[in-house]
Amino acid sequence: MREIHVVESLVPNDVLGASRQKALDFSRANEAYVKYRTSASGRTKLVFEALKSVNNPKSIHGLYPYRGKISALDARQVLSQLPSSLTLLDPFCGSGTILHEGQKLGMDVIGVDNNPIAYSLSQAKLEQKSREDYIAEVTTLLQAAKWSLEKNCVPAMPEGPARHFHEQSANEVMSVSLFREQMSAYVKGCYYGAIALTARGCNHYRWTSSSVGKNIEPKQYISFYEKLEEKVKKHYAANCGQPTGRVILGDARQLSQLVEPGSVDVVFTSPPYFDALDYTAYYGKIIYEIHEENRLEIKEGLIQRFADYSANMERVLEEINRVTRQDALIIFVVGDKKAKDGTIDGGQFFASLREKQPAYIVERVYSGSQSQIFDTLNRTRRKEQIVVWDKSIGF
Ligand SMILES: C[S@@+](CC[C@H](N)C(=O)[O-])C[C@H]1O[C@@H](n2cnc3c(N)ncnc32)[C@H](O)[C@@H]1O
Repeated sequence: MREIHVVESLVPNDVLGASRQKALDFSRANEAYVKYRTSASGRTKLVFEALKSVNNPKSIHGLYPYRGKISALDARQVLSQLPSSLTLLDPFCGSGTILHEGQKLGMDVIGVDNNPIAYSLSQAKLEQKSREDYIAEVTTLLQAAKWSLEKNCVPAMPEGPARHFHEQSANEVMSVSLFREQMSAYVKGCYYGAIALTARGCNHYRWTSSSVGKNIEPKQYISFYEKLEEKVKKHYAANCGQPTGRVILGDARQLSQLVEPGSVDVVFTSPPYFDALDYTAYYGKIIYEIHEENRLEIKEGLIQRFADYSANMERVLEEINRVTRQDALIIFVVGDKKAKDGTIDGGQFFASLREKQPAYIVERVYSGSQSQIFDTLNRTRRKEQIVVWDKSIGF
């Protein structure tokens, strides 16, 4: 028994004309439906409004431009409908948006990701020291880095990433890199974010999400030291004071070896897309190359090829079944995929991976992002489906 609801359409008037009004009317009716009807288990259905605003870049979620980041506001609207006493798992936690928002509400959160940068960013967003502690840390760190540079004990940046930076900015990055292992999680997250920002700045801030790495000459000097200090001050977010959540660097296909079976109340995640994004590329590539880490090996441990996507996701869902309680909710935020012979509906695709149908699927057409302009030009509309399984009915 599957129902699809178009909750709201934010596509502007000039794009859809009269059909926009229809979509809105339909969505309002459905919104009411979603709000006031309960699912077969007697639980109130979750409401998924389409939000215009994505993230506040000054918040902790602006720490680093992680690809495929879910909107923090979106994460919060879902989490705030759930009891705060639960154990929440995000098996593809990326930069930790859902984890941070869950922890802020007092939940016991567990994140898993097999990409070391994602792991560090998630840890950064869960750590709970005071602002003063972090400012003191970065002050000492910068003193030590500057001293090392003056004394000429800083290695040169490897050639690959060095071509993205002004020489002096690169030297500053390398002087701080000497202390990476001693950094607190939050300062390390800021350090990665400052590398991305400095690389972009050295290229006159002309890199967009699709042109990261484009060579723009001459390189502009950007003070990495200033960017790092600014980031530490700007993104600090006081958390809730609850015990710190847990992040695991590991493979979601082996969840039951990482998380205690039967221990999770809610799984809430945005999984890797069918084959679209390489989470180790772009700024991640620069960071991995600076630290001489084997990016391709890391990439191999991630799910991203279309050919084995279905088998991999089936495995992950089975592992989720093992680590969740009998009455757990499992919420997947997914999307359409364009294929040779039409579009694959993300909601239907995920529903087909389990024997039991999801309790409900909510579909949203959304816009307001830069990609919406491209969608309009390409006559496409971005669709997102939120698939909710309720294990008390079946999974
Ligand atoms: C859409 S992103 C999640 C973004 C996240 N919600 C955020 O706000 O940053 C999907 C994540 O899945 C991770 N991933 C891909 N394959 C994985 C695997 N086999 N095990 C664990 N994580 C994996 C990627 O590294 C990526 O961070």
